Amino acid sequence: MPGLGDATRGRLLFGGDYNPEQWPEETWHEDVRLMKAARVNSVTLGVFSWSKLEPEPGAREFGWLDTLMDLMHEHGIGVVLATPTSSPPPWLGRLHPDTLPVTEDGRTEWWGGRQHFSHSSATYRHHAAAITEDLAARYGGHPALTLWHINNEYCTADHGDQAAAAFRRWLRARYGTLDALNETWGTAFWGQHYDTWDGILPPRLPHYLRNPGQVLDFRRFTSDMLLECCTAERDIVRRHSPHVPVTTNFMPLWSGVDAWRWAREEDVVSVDLYPDPRDPLGAQHGALVQDMTRSQARGPWMLMEQAAGPVNWRGVNHPKPRGLNRLWSLQAVARGADAVCYFQWRQSRQGAEKFHSGMVGHAGEEGRTFQEITRLGADLERIAPAVTGRPVPARVAVLHDWHAWWAGDQDGRLSGRVEYPDVLSAWHRALWQAHLTTDFAHPEHDLAPYALVVVPQLYALTDAAVGNLLAYTRQGGTLVCGFLTGVADQDDRVRPGGMDARLRQLFGIRTLHEWWPLEAGETVACEGFRGTLWSEELEGDGTAEEIVPYRGGELDGLPAVLRKGRAWYLSTLPEPGPLRDLLASVARDAGVRPVLDGLPDRVEAVRRGELLFVLNHGREPVTVEVPGTHHDLLTGTDVTGRVTLGRYGAAVLRP
Ligand code: GLA
Repeated sequence: MPGLGDATRGRLLFGGDYNPEQWPEETWHEDVRLMKAARVNSVTLGVFSWSKLEPEPGAREFGWLDTLMDLMHEHGIGVVLATPTSSPPPWLGRLHPDTLPVTEDGRTEWWGGRQHFSHSSATYRHHAAAITEDLAARYGGHPALTLWHINNEYCTADHGDQAAAAFRRWLRARYGTLDALNETWGTAFWGQHYDTWDGILPPRLPHYLRNPGQVLDFRRFTSDMLLECCTAERDIVRRHSPHVPVTTNFMPLWSGVDAWRWAREEDVVSVDLYPDPRDPLGAQHGALVQDMTRSQARGPWMLMEQAAGPVNWRGVNHPKPRGLNRLWSLQAVARGADAVCYFQWRQSRQGAEKFHSGMVGHAGEEGRTFQEITRLGADLERIAPAVTGRPVPARVAVLHDWHAWWAGDQDGRLSGRVEYPDVLSAWHRALWQAHLTTDFAHPEHDLAPYALVVVPQLYALTDAAVGNLLAYTRQGGTLVCGFLTGVADQDDRVRPGGMDARLRQLFGIRTLHEWWPLEAGETVACEGFRGTLWSEELEGDGTAEEIVPYRGGELDGLPAVLRKGRAWYLSTLPEPGPLRDLLASVARDAGVRPVLDGLPDRVEAVRRGELLFVLNHGREPVTVEVPGTHHDLLTGTDVTGRVTLGRYGAAVLRP
C-alpha cells in the first residue's frame, strides 16, 4: 500500500488548496511564478469544483483542469486531486431533493453553501461515484498526480427519511432482533419499546430528553455512513491508480467521525488545523491535534490545511503576528508532519471566505503574509532531507475513544460543564507543559510501548478495554485515570457500583457513593492543591498505598486521589499547575524524562529522528540549554551548550 512517502519523495510537501476556477487564466501564470518563488511543491485542486466539472447533469468540462494539471506538472508542482463531492452542484439538489440532508428538527439543508448532501441518498452516491469515476479515469495516470483527496471534511449528519431507512438497516445488521435492540437501548424506560423496525427513527427533536442508546447508535451510524461514502470513492480512484495514495482531511478533535476507525481506511492521514492566534494555549491545541494525527497515522502525516493569517469563522478573527505562521508550521513538522499545507493558496475576492487569509493575501506579493510564506518554503527545503519519514518517539500515551465521548456527551448528565474535549485537552496540556512527548492511543490498542498511560476520561469502556488496562498495569505499566472513567459499558449501561468493579479494585475503591460536580468558578480543596469541575464521594477498600484527601467541605478526609501500586485515580481535575506537577512526577517515577530539562515556560522541545526541535512560543527572546554541540539546520551554524531564540524563534538541531 502506498503511503505519504510516495507523495513526498524525500521532500516536505508545501502548498495549499488551489482554486484557480475563481480566477482568470492570466492569474494562473502569475500563481505559478509566485509558487516557484515560495518553493511551493504541492497544490490541492478540485475540492469544490463539481459544478465546474459537471455544469449540467452528465456534462463533463475537463479542459480547464487538463490545462492546470499540465501547467503544474510543467513546473514540477505535484497535485493533490480532490473528488469534488462535498459541494454538489445546485442542479443536483434542484432535480433530486432526496440528496439534501435534514436536520434533527426537520429543516432541509439547501444548496447555496456547501456540504449539502445526504450520506444515505442513493442518488447522491450515484452522482458522486460517476464524477469520481470520470475524474479518476482522466487523471489517474497524470504525472502531476501525487495524492487523492476524497471529499472534504466529512461532517454532515442526516435525520431525514432516507437516513431513517438506512439507520434501520444498520441497526438490523448490528442487533439482528428487535428484542436485542430494545434491551440495549433500555426502551423499558419511559415506555419506548419498539414493536416494529419501521417505528425506529433517527433521533429527531423530542419533547424532552433523548434516548441515550438511540443517540449513541446514531452517532456510530453517521460515522459509518460517511465512511461508506468515502471508501466508495476511494475504491474508484484506487482502481484507476493503485499506486497513488489516498486521504481525506479530518477536522481536529471533531466529534462527528471515529477517526481511529477511518484512519485504517486511508493511506495517508491528514488534518486541518486552525488554532486561534490570540489563544495563549493555541500552541498546545496544535500539539494535541498533531499528536493525535500522528498516532492515527502511526507515522508521518499531512497538515492539509492551516491558515497563513486570519480565518473568518470565529466571532473575531485575528491575523498571525509576524513569525507565528513559521513557528506553528515547524511545530507540525517536529510532531511528525511531512506536509505543511494551507487553505488556501490565493485569498478569494468573492464568496463566503473572501476575508479568510490565503498564502497570497489581498496585499499580494508585497504583503507580509506572502513574504513569510516564502521564508518558510526555504526553511522547509533546508530541513526536509533530515526530517521526512522520521519517527517521533513517545513513551507516554493519552487514551482517547470516540465511542466513549459519544456515550458520555448526552442529555441528562450530571454536569453540562464537563466537556470531553476540554478534559482531554487539560490532561494533554499538563503533559505538554511538562515537556513530555505524548502519543494518543485507543483503549484497546497495544499499550506495551508506553511507560505511562493516562486516561483523562473514558466514560464508557468495553470489557476488552478494561482487560487491556488491567493487563497493562500487571505488566508493569503506570496508569493514571481521571474521573468519569469506566462508568458505563459500550452500550451506555451503567456498570454496577457506578464504576467498573475491576477498575475500583485496581485503584483500591470500595464504594463510589456520590458524584459531586462543581459549579463554574467553584473549586474543592484537596491536600496540596485545588480540584475543579468535579469531585467524588469515595470510600477506599484499605488497599490503596497512597491517598490524597479532600480537605474541608462535604468530602473532608475522603480520598481525592488514590494510588495502588502503579495505578492512580484522580476523582477531581486538579488545577493546571498541580496536574502538570503530578503527571511530571509520576512520569519521572515511571522512568520517562522530559525532552529537555530546565526548559523555560513557553519553550517547546520535540525530538524527531535524530533532530531536536526547540520552539519559542513567546514574544521575548530566550536562551535554552542544549547540552553538547549541534548544527542548526535553519541557520546553518553550530551551537554549543545553549541556543538563543528570538520572538517566535525556532532551532532545528542535529547532533
Ligand atoms: C475548512 C475547509 C476549507 C475552508 C477552511 C476555512 O478547513 O476544508 O475549505 O473552508 O475550513 O478555515
